[in-house]
Amino acid sequence: MNNAEILEKQRQYLWPNHVLYYTEPIALDHGAGLTVWDADGNRYLDFFAGILTSSVGYAHPKVTERVQEQVSKLAHCSTLYMNESHVLLAEKLAAMAPGKLQTSYFTASGTEADETAVMLAQSVTGYQEVIALRHGYSGRSALARSLTAQAVWRVGPTQIPGIKHALAPYCYRCPLKLSYPSCGVACAEDVEDVIRTTTTGKIAAFLAEPIMGVGGFITAPPEYFQIVADIVHRYGGLLIIDEVQTGFGRTGDYWFGIEHWGVEPDIMTMAKGIAGGFPLSNTMTTPEIAQAAVGKGLTISTFGGNPVSCAASLAVIEVMEEEASPQHVAEVGNHFRAGLERLQEKYPLIGDVRGKGLMQGVEMVLDRKTKEPATKEVNALFEQTRQRGLLIGKGGLYGNSLRLAPPLTATRDHVDEALEILDHAFAAVQEMV
Ligand SMILES: Cc1ncc(COP(=O)(O)O)c(C=O)c1O
Repeated sequence: MNNAEILEKQRQYLWPNHVLYYTEPIALDHGAGLTVWDADGNRYLDFFAGILTSSVGYAHPKVTERVQEQVSKLAHCSTLYMNESHVLLAEKLAAMAPGKLQTSYFTASGTEADETAVMLAQSVTGYQEVIALRHGYSGRSALARSLTAQAVWRVGPTQIPGIKHALAPYCYRCPLKLSYPSCGVACAEDVEDVIRTTTTGKIAAFLAEPIMGVGGFITAPPEYFQIVADIVHRYGGLLIIDEVQTGFGRTGDYWFGIEHWGVEPDIMTMAKGIAGGFPLSNTMTTPEIAQAAVGKGLTISTFGGNPVSCAASLAVIEVMEEEASPQHVAEVGNHFRAGLERLQEKYPLIGDVRGKGLMQGVEMVLDRKTKEPATKEVNALFEQTRQRGLLIGKGGLYGNSLRLAPPLTATRDHVDEALEILDHAFAAVQEMV
């Protein structure tokens, strides 16, 4: 089937509220490394990696081989039975995760991992209320949509009570109209204000992403998470850090994003890049916290710890260690960042460049003083980059931030190719403004 035929069936049989990128949506057919081909045979360099998920590129031979081996042996078992890949992956992650995070509960999506984290915090603390951040994104269940704080993703009237949202550490559009560092990171203090004024004074948890992914790669200042962690613990809560986008070396230098802030979470959630595209997520915590949940009700997961996804994850981590270590990501990420900053000097449309490692955000504005969001121009840039064979992502409350996040196996050459395409695409769009 070609793109047009697939689109016709998509329109006929899938819910029309599926969000599809591009005026003429792309049907992906196959991939190798950082390259994907659509159903019409067009070739693209992928700088969005299936929403930061194809962490070691497409069809990596090591991952393919391990998955095939596991599928031919055992494709499913549920959490009611043990399996070797499941425990080996848990052991591996205990060695990779920061601090005392040693015990895992695997599920199948980021939404479930965040659900599991909140369930654990509520059952262990005995408190109900949860603080999340404005501009945050947690997924598509009722709880996750309530934790999410961007109107367009809070679909439906049902919202779970007991969830409050503090100000985001969004320096480019500071909610307090201050500037870093003279602000003294005042946004972090808002967490205490929200607890004292809108909750019962005791909370189960605070949940946040180290870099706000769907929010447009909003990156908190260096002091932010330490200040917040102290506040959260003083009010009885656990610190839940959502590493769904930032985990597995994505931000460079470390395996997990929060390590840049030198803070140890009580609970950490992960998904997306964990298994390079196979459905898998994990909620990690300390042995003490995990133990405290015992006897407070039963829980199972049919797809949790799926042997194929766990085997894929073990292979993906091995490939990262060999070809895409956090150090490699930092090095290639710095090269990418320098190139994006050069584009910022050239094109007034680029208001802000932010992020870490291979998670780089570009916020586009019509005017650098008023910071009016250049939402239509982002769409135009999408069409321009697509025509030139580059896939990118977008996000942000105003839909005006580019999310640039290739597979972590990206090299300087891939980055140079992407920068050249972006340069031409920006030149074309800047001319239209
Ligand atoms: C930070 C974060 N948490 C949770 C989720 C939900 O993950 P999933 O779509 O796998 O349910 C996402 C998805 O984009 C995310 O970015």
